[in-house]
Amino acid sequence: MSLRLPGVPKLVSRYRAFDLLATLVAVVRTDGSVIFANAALEDAIGISRRTIQGTPFGDFFTEPQILRSALEGAADNAFSALRYEALVRRANQETFPVHVIVAQTERRGETIVELLPLELQAKQDREERLIDQAQANKELIRNLAHEIKNPLGGIRGAAQLLQMEIESRDLIEYTQVIIHEADRLQTLVDRLLAPHRRPHVVGDVNIHEVCERVRSLIMAEFPRGLRVVRDYDISIPEFRGDREQLIQAVLNITHNAAQALAERIAEGDAEITLRSRIARQITFGKQRYRLALELHVIDNGPGVPDSIKDRIFYPLVSGREGGSGLGLTLAQTFVQQHHGLIECDSVPGRTDFKLLIPLP
Ligand SMILES: Nc1ncnc2c1ncn2[C@@H]1O[C@H](COP(=O)(O)OP(=O)(O)OP(=O)(O)O)[C@@H](O)[C@H]1O
Ligand SMILES: [Mg+2]
Repeated sequence: MSLRLPGVPKLVSRYRAFDLLATLVAVVRTDGSVIFANAALEDAIGISRRTIQGTPFGDFFTEPQILRSALEGAADNAFSALRYEALVRRANQETFPVHVIVAQTERRGETIVELLPLELQAKQDREERLIDQAQANKELIRNLAHEIKNPLGGIRGAAQLLQMEIESRDLIEYTQVIIHEADRLQTLVDRLLAPHRRPHVVGDVNIHEVCERVRSLIMAEFPRGLRVVRDYDISIPEFRGDREQLIQAVLNITHNAAQALAERIAEGDAEITLRSRIARQITFGKQRYRLALELHVIDNGPGVPDSIKDRIFYPLVSGREGGSGLGLTLAQTFVQQHHGLIECDSVPGRTDFKLLIPLP
C-alpha cells in the first residue's frame, strides 16, 4: 500500500460529519487516493481509516478501473453524479455488493464516493417500513379506540337500565349478553389505549431484571414442559427507560412463544431462550448507533404462519384461536418509545424475536 499523503489530518476534519452516516463514504483525490474514510466505511472494510486514508481507493474494489474512469469523469466535469454497481473487498478478502455513487464536491480535485451496501439498503427499506407502519398503527388505534369507547359506555348503561325493567328471565339473558360483550370490548379498547394513556415513566432499567420478571411470570403460567433458558451478557449497562413498558413488551413476545409451543409443552421439550447481547456500530432505520442492546426471545416452536408473517406487527392480526392480535403491536409501540425496534425471523423449529434498543 502506498504512503500516506502529507496534510491529511487538516483536510479530514472538514468531513467529520460523514461519520454520522450509515452509508459508507470516502472522499478521494482524482488520482484515486483516499483523503477521508468515514466510520461506516472503516467498519465495513474492516481496516482502520488511518490505513485506508492515503491508499488508492481502487484497491478495495474487484474492478478498480471502473472507479478510476468515474473519478476522471468527475474531474473533467463529465457528470455531476455517476452511479454504478460494484463489489467491494473486505480485509478478510470477502466481497460484498454495493451501489456506488460518485459525486463532485465544490473543491476541485476532491470527489465523494458513497457506497450503499445492497443488503443494507434492503434492510433500511424494511426497517423504515416497520417504523412508518408502527406510526400509522398508533394513530389508527388511538382514533378507533376513542370512537368505540364513547358509545360503548352508552350501550352498556342502556342494557343495564333495560334489564331492571324486564321481568322475563329469557329476555334478561339477552341484556346480559349485551353487557358481557360490551365489557369484553371495553377491555380490548383499554388495551388499545394503554400505551397512550399511561405516562412514560423513565428510570434506570436493568434488562436482566426485566427478563427475570418475564421468566417468572411465564414459568408460573406454564409450570411444566417448558424450559426458559437464560443466556445473558451481564456486562450490559443499565439504561434510561420505562421498566414496566419493557416488561410488558418482552412478556407479550415471550407469551406468544409459549402459546406457540403448546404441542411441545405437551411433549415436554419446549424451550424458550432469552439471550441478551451488545451490538456495536449498528444501524436501524437510517440512524446509526454506537451501541445497542440486543435481546432475543427464541423458541423451538412451529414458527409464525406464512399467511401472516408480513403483518404480525399490525393491530388485530392474529394466527391464534381467540387471539386479539394486539400483543406485538403494543410491544412494538413500547420498544419504539425507547427509540428501538423489534424484528422477527422465523422458520419452523426456530423463531427469533429480536428487540434492539440503543444504549447511550
Ligand atoms: N413465537 C411465535 N411463534 C409462532 N407464531 C407467533 C409467535 N409470536 C407471534 N406469533 C403469531 O403472531 C400472531 C400475532 O401475535 P400478537 O401477540 O400480536 O397477537 P395474539 O397473540 O394473537 O393476541 P394477543 O397477544 O393480543 O392476545 C399470533 O397470533 C401468532 O399467530
Ligand atoms: Mg400475543
